[in-house]
Amino acid sequence: MKISEDIIYIGANDKDIDLFESQYKVPNGISYNSYVIKDEKTVIMDTVDRRKTTEWLESLEKALEGKVPDYLVVSHLEPDHAYNIELLVSKYPTMKIVGNNKTFAFMPQFFDIADFEERKILVKEGDTLNLGKHCLQFFMAPMVHWPEVMVTYEKTEKVLFSADAFGKFGCIDTEEGWKNEKDLDEARRYYINIVGKYGMQVQAALKKLSTLDINTICPLHGPILKENLEYYINKYNIWSSYIPEEDGILIAYASIHGNTADAANKLADILKKDGYNNICVKDLSRCDFSEAISEAFKYSKLILASSTYNMGIFPPMANFLNRLKGLNYQNRKVAIIENGTWAPNSGKCMNEILSEMKDIDLIQPIITIKSKLNENNLKELENLSKEL
Ligand code: FEO
Repeated sequence: MKISEDIIYIGANDKDIDLFESQYKVPNGISYNSYVIKDEKTVIMDTVDRRKTTEWLESLEKALEGKVPDYLVVSHLEPDHAYNIELLVSKYPTMKIVGNNKTFAFMPQFFDIADFEERKILVKEGDTLNLGKHCLQFFMAPMVHWPEVMVTYEKTEKVLFSADAFGKFGCIDTEEGWKNEKDLDEARRYYINIVGKYGMQVQAALKKLSTLDINTICPLHGPILKENLEYYINKYNIWSSYIPEEDGILIAYASIHGNTADAANKLADILKKDGYNNICVKDLSRCDFSEAISEAFKYSKLILASSTYNMGIFPPMANFLNRLKGLNYQNRKVAIIENGTWAPNSGKCMNEILSEMKDIDLIQPIITIKSKLNENNLKELENLSKEL
């Protein structure tokens, strides 16, 4: 696939992977993107995951048309992109490796590279590399998603090689952009779960990129973005600012025998009767955890309903809350429903985790169910609906 006359896509679609990063379900697979820029000097932009080495090498050789690459630019050392560096430096002994001081600090931890010192081209913020007609400029983007991440701007064709930023789950053989609802959900799920913790660093990167005139974004996963780039940049701005994308409610429940689930579903019914329609209900024991996390970030309000378990939180809810905390979840209105037959305690424990997050507006009181909903609980749910 050609991005332009001189920029060629050599990445690979992985349709068979069971779990990306050994934890995320990717029903439509994942792509590992890599590119070749052809000019007086030839550049390879990143490699691919070990699962696609053979296919990638074939595409690389086809794109090179017998030329020997001059440079390998390493945007990110995570093995889904960097696995084949050692193979590449052995195959092309004259090729130089372009990276920053952190790239080169971590590289020997992964690879044994002969003549490592002689092969390095160390770049800093704003440095350029002339290829002939094209010119690459490097910008550091630490923690989007690892400390050594950098993005590369090709000045002539105005192409941004954005590393993990602007990526998306899903193979790219059938996709263009991610503006329809289903694709946007997968882009959000990718961003929130993988980079969500680093909103401040993403904001810093967006500020730098705002000074560039960009025609095309070439990420390391997902489709190449060519049109209406403001749409994608705006989504990243919202997500990285921890601003809710929509006024809506996620009701997330963890229920052992179904009574807590009944309470969660009853609340959804009451909310709908009260005219609130943008509601999503997730059974944390059964749904994909990364979807629930993504929905929590999407909406402005979150209801947590959990059984008490071993005097604490039922594990599916504990896992959900601890993941939210790890991803810097913040700036949301939250309500708690707890359940327990003899000593309901999950509410207090959920509140303890919430209290470690920033700007959580907890709706009082915590609703306590003893085994199953009673008349008083129904009134409390009605009051909660009005409060929301
Ligand atoms: Fe796609 Fe952070 O690697």
